[in-house]
Amino acid sequence: AAVSDYDLNIPISSEQGGLRSNLPGYGDTHFSLFLRKVFIKALGYTDESLSKPIIGIINTFSSFNPCHAQVPRLLEAAKRGILLAGGLPMEFPTISVHESFSNPTSMYLRNLMSMDTEEMVKSQPVDAVVMIGGCDKTVPAQLMGGISANKPFLPLITGPMMPGSVKGVRVGACTDCRNSWAKYRAGAIDIEDIMDVNEELAPTAGTCGVMGTASTMACITAGLGLIDLKSGATSPAVSSTRLRVAENTGKTAVAILRDKEGFRPQKLLAYENFINAIIVLQAIGGSTNAIVHLMAIINRHPDVRGRITLKTFDEIGRKTPLLVDLKPSGDNYMTDFHNAGGMLALMHTLRPLLHLNARTFTGQTLDEMLDSTPFQTFDYSKRIVRSLDDPLHPSSSLAVLYGNLAPDGAVMKASASKDRRLLKHRGRACVFKNSRDLSARIDSDDLDVTADSILVLQGIGPVGNPGMPEAGLIPIPRKLGRSGVTDMLRISDGRMSGTAGGTIVLHVSPESADPESVLGIVQDGDYISCDVEARMLHLEIEQEEIKMRIAEREEMKASRRKVIRGGKLAADVERDPWHTRRNERGYRGLYERHVNQAHLGCDFDFLTAEGPRLAEEEGS
Ligand code: FES
Ligand code: MG
Repeated sequence: AAVSDYDLNIPISSEQGGLRSNLPGYGDTHFSLFLRKVFIKALGYTDESLSKPIIGIINTFSSFNPCHAQVPRLLEAAKRGILLAGGLPMEFPTISVHESFSNPTSMYLRNLMSMDTEEMVKSQPVDAVVMIGGCDKTVPAQLMGGISANKPFLPLITGPMMPGSVKGVRVGACTDCRNSWAKYRAGAIDIEDIMDVNEELAPTAGTCGVMGTASTMACITAGLGLIDLKSGATSPAVSSTRLRVAENTGKTAVAILRDKEGFRPQKLLAYENFINAIIVLQAIGGSTNAIVHLMAIINRHPDVRGRITLKTFDEIGRKTPLLVDLKPSGDNYMTDFHNAGGMLALMHTLRPLLHLNARTFTGQTLDEMLDSTPFQTFDYSKRIVRSLDDPLHPSSSLAVLYGNLAPDGAVMKASASKDRRLLKHRGRACVFKNSRDLSARIDSDDLDVTADSILVLQGIGPVGNPGMPEAGLIPIPRKLGRSGVTDMLRISDGRMSGTAGGTIVLHVSPESADPESVLGIVQDGDYISCDVEARMLHLEIEQEEIKMRIAEREEMKASRRKVIRGGKLAADVERDPWHTRRNERGYRGLYERHVNQAHLGCDFDFLTAEGPRLAEEEGS
């Protein structure tokens, strides 16, 4: 036979698929295939195995990631499903990112993980991919990478952990982490108590058991139409249901190849899917972080990018009540939500608000999918998943504020406010230049602050403090905490954990490190007014004064830069609160040069659907 017939002798599943896809360029295609067969045979595969469609499974196990501790069992179950359906499972790793073990923040690594995911999915010969993930930044990174890679994929969520118990009271990571720590700080509980709590906050493997970022992203993934409504988002990490979800995901990954083109994510997911996801976000009182993630995910999609902005989140919020009674907005845990019917109960309840023509991973529209999976509500269910006319919070659990302080928007989880009077408030600013300044002074008895003050933290935005730390939950100054103050209006350009609560304005855009930023020129004693109902965030100083302060700051920055260039000073944050010295080297340099602002998703500009325009084009 001729050399060109070589690949014809390899029984493969389809013209482009299986082992034959994505051949590396050795110049000679037949030789490339011949070599690939050499190496895959080194793994012991037979020609029969290699004739099957190849389903990749992304393994995000890491000893540093307890949220993913069950991944080995999920892998085994997913493989079983793939084999049963006639596919060949091929597992491969990507990086794994956990909240507590990622310095400076997990957010800093999210884009790296999305690049890893995108490139490995694109590069390897997989017909479809199962992406196992769960911890906060993982699902966003995988959705971002998956949409950009545009090969059919199915998320497989690791699932929430079980709640623990201290002296008969249920506790769970990490809303109760914060509440307990605040009590300990205020002297209400002692060291033994806080140590007992520490033992029980995360009693099993799995993601945080409240409506934090991980749970929010799991529910959003169901809202997007990518996972099973009954169990895909909510079944506990350690349950046998979760393993059956994994087996079914494996089976489905083979089944969707019947229409490989139609299941490419950029085809499957349309504007309506993302609107549904935002409706879900509002109805669950989801994490503020999810707004950043969803914007990043949306901006990866060429047909949806630009059609959904922060304003869309606010508009949907005004029409969408908060229905799910989970911490931190409510009282319960993810396992309760699951027992109450989970996302299936919620999607049936939200049905009048949803875009029912959105397509789902089953190949059905959402309408057809809901018809084929009816849900009969029951008493317990109604307590956790409230009805549209008996909501936990009438609307706008997440609100977007605008004003001279945040021209591109700022975000507040109004439903998590502890002192609702603060939702309309005017007060004097008590300003901290950055996290270090905050920790140095917040507990000082001399701090000029009252319960009516507004705590302002600058310098924790995506560029100013790379990774945009979850430091937006500014602690109540100790002297006020002791006298019983539990909530204050707080404003920053940073993020806050999805498990936290309080009256807190986050993601102020542009951030204070930006040359145009007004947040960056707020001074002690300036008056700020905030009216959540009116969606307003205003610094009460004249426009002239604002301009002057900005000009002064930029001048100071410029002279700092000169000194730094002269090599005379170290660029420490105390003497350089504006972070004028950027890093050039490595991933950090890439991050600082290319991360975009929070209202765009903190993605790298070159990873968005269109990427940045070339400089030459801009000139022309
Ligand atoms: Fe992983 Fe909370 S730390 S989900
Ligand atoms: Mg979190």
